[in-house]
Amino acid sequence: MTSRFLRLGVNIDHVATIRNARGGDAPSPVRAAQIAQEAGADGITAHLREDRRHIRDEDIAALLENIAVPLNFEMAATDEMHAIALRHKPHAVCLVPERREERTTEGGLGVVQDQNRLAAFIAPLKETGSRVSMFIEADPKQIEASAKIGAAVVELHTGAMCEAHLQGDFAARDQHLARITEGARIADGLGLEVHAGHGLDFETAPMAAAIPEVVELNIGHFLIGEAIFSGLPEAIARMRAVMNTARPAAGV
Ligand code: PXP
Repeated sequence: MTSRFLRLGVNIDHVATIRNARGGDAPSPVRAAQIAQEAGADGITAHLREDRRHIRDEDIAALLENIAVPLNFEMAATDEMHAIALRHKPHAVCLVPERREERTTEGGLGVVQDQNRLAAFIAPLKETGSRVSMFIEADPKQIEASAKIGAAVVELHTGAMCEAHLQGDFAARDQHLARITEGARIADGLGLEVHAGHGLDFETAPMAAAIPEVVELNIGHFLIGEAIFSGLPEAIARMRAVMNTARPAAGV
């Protein structure tokens, strides 16, 4: 299979987390997005959570005004977020499950269980030109349901794989990776564009990058943390390099 270009989406949510810790304007998520863009990010991802714990409404408007690369707007499938997405018309909308008490997005969206509502939810977003993505576990049923309701993209959740890797449980990690690899193949066969993300770092991003059907990785927490030590451009450049090294060669 000919290898496709692999994009890197940089999630800048946790720049906002640090800003919010002191209540002022610094560090600026827009500045981080601009630096990420210059350092080679192919897109910027931001998640406007119901509780606004990191990105806030005004950040979305500022990002859209001040970055040239596409914005991937992550949100829960709620009426409030629907109205915001329809107003801003971002390049991409990624629907994620959201629970207030969670520390981060745990698990994937239940597309199978909520097909009719989600089909009606995404139709107007598609009409305004946003590419709609479903953040799901690599479960064939969730992938098939995503295709059925008209999503353009699935983002496969790599959180459990990354957690197993961090715990040193490499057998479990490899099982998760095999499932994600198979899920990517199924999704691609159904005409869905395949992305992957959550918890990726310099060791696990190459595993996702090696899956030929995956064309975008969305990475946030690790890169922002790494930026504290090396600077954001260096963290992004190194991520890009490990992704490139792992990518199957073109024409293979
Ligand atoms: N992709 C999606 C859909 C997410 O919800 C998140 C976390 O907001 C990420 C990617 C990035 O995850 P991390 O911050 O762990 O790299």
